[in-house]
Parts: sequence; C-alpha cells; structure tokens
Amino acid sequence: MEIITSVKDMQNKVMSLKNQGKTIGFVPTMGFLHEGHLTLVENAREKSDYVAMSIFVNPLQFGPNEDFERYPRDIKRDEQLARQAGVDLLFYPSVEEMYKHNRTFKLSVENKVDILCGSKRPGHFDGVATVLIKLFNIVQPTYAYFGMKDAQQVAVVSSLIDEYNFPIELIPVETVREKDGLAKSSRNVYLTDEERKQAVVIYQSLQLARELIEKGETNPEVVQAAMEEYIKSHSSAVIDYVEIYSFPDLKTLTTLSGLVLIAVAIRFTNVRLIDNMTMEV
Ligand code: PAF
Repeated sequence: MEIITSVKDMQNKVMSLKNQGKTIGFVPTMGFLHEGHLTLVENAREKSDYVAMSIFVNPLQFGPNEDFERYPRDIKRDEQLARQAGVDLLFYPSVEEMYKHNRTFKLSVENKVDILCGSKRPGHFDGVATVLIKLFNIVQPTYAYFGMKDAQQVAVVSSLIDEYNFPIELIPVETVREKDGLAKSSRNVYLTDEERKQAVVIYQSLQLARELIEKGETNPEVVQAAMEEYIKSHSSAVIDYVEIYSFPDLKTLTTLSGLVLIAVAIRFTNVRLIDNMTMEV
C-alpha cells in the first residue's frame, strides 16, 4: 500500500494509473476505521483494479460546537487496517494541504439538506460537498463507495455527481451492524456500558416500522409515532428525529409508497447516533 500525503503526488499517481487504463474504486473516510469502512473496501476490491482510500477529518463539515477536535484519530491503526483490507493507495493529506488557498468560492447545497441531520447541522453538507469535489478531482475514481448508514449523504452525493457531471458511478453499500443490530460507527466508543445496551433501540424501532408497513400501514405519521414511543419507553435516549421520506429525492410523503427512507437520530450523554433503512412499499 502506498501512502500519499500531497495532492500533486496523488494526482500524478492517479494519472499514471488512468493512462494504463486502470479503474479506481474510491472509499472516502475520516479515518478511525471500523468494519463499515472495511466493507466498503471489500466492495471496491471486487470491481476495481485499484482501491484508493482517503483519510481526512474535514474541518469544513463540523459546526462550531461539534466534535472536530475530539473526533477519534489513530492513523497507525488505520494504516494497518487499510493495508490488511487491500487498499492500494492511502491518501492522507493534512488540513493545510487540502485547504491551502484563501477560499474564493463557497459552495451551498440548496436541496435535500433542511431535513434529517442536515437541519441539525447547518453548513454540514456544504463542507461535505466541498471536500468531495476536491477529493473527486484529486482521486478521479471510476467508482465511489458510500455507506447507506448516512443515507442523506448518499442522496446529496448522488445529486453532486449528476449536477457537476463527475464521470463517477456512486455505489451505496448496506450498513454493517453489530450482532444486536447497532450500526457500526466510530462514535460508538463514546457510549457508556449502559447506553451501549440501550442503543439497540434505534435498530429495533426500525424493525418495528418495517413490521407495521408490512402489515399494511401506509400513514407515515402512525409509523413515526410508534417508533418514537418505542424509543422513549425502552431507553434514556433523547430523540433528535424520526423522519420518513422518498429516496433518493428526500421528498415528504403523505402516504407511504415507492422506495422510502426511514431515518432515526437519537442522543445519549456524549454521543448522537443515526441509523436508517430503506424499503419498497
Ligand atoms: O462520511 C464521511 O466520513 C465523510 O462525510 C466524507 C464522505 C469522508 C467526507 O468528508
């Protein structure tokens, strides 16, 4: 595995691979790798000649009161995991390397962001879109892999790729879960033991939604209310949202039909967890 820290070196490397007709599968990450990331690499391995991973904790996507400084980092461990997973190129730039210019442009994501996590994190997707435009231009991937755990991000990236004409195929990958159903996340380390036990309610509430819909429920408000009630009565978590939209356009629905996204965010003492499922109704 080659570790590259400069934009120029990465671009040169990618250009030489492209000149040889090689395909590149790209897994963008903020590091502190877990099984979710490694599953993205596994998927990328199957389809591409070379797998590139970026590790970059992007300050632009963190709000002033969010956890940019506190975000877990362990590059030595990440290097080892990435190597074992079969990453060929690890792009690991510094903040100064990625944002060396005084910014002339400020990107604003206009749709799909005033709901779900976007509504709680103003500017978050502006930062995500900005760094992804840079990373896509640097890595020039054939395929880009994103976990469905952040379904809103998948929906926004899908529009980014379409609207900015990136010749990239977006490949969404199913969420990887712990044995009890909790979605894997770098932030799970902040749960206390008791909270870790309770955190499974987020997954269980999604299963409850699935059962209700499978039994014929088509009113999104009824499904939402049942999920909220379940979370409140089975945990000490505070509900940030339980929301249901069409996917991937993220439009409000009065009756459930087509591909729908059911998404949940809850907060424990030191951590906010998100999860979701999509289902055809
Ligand atoms: O999902 C993430 O880890 C980040 O939002 C991403 C896509 C790497 C951009 O910084």
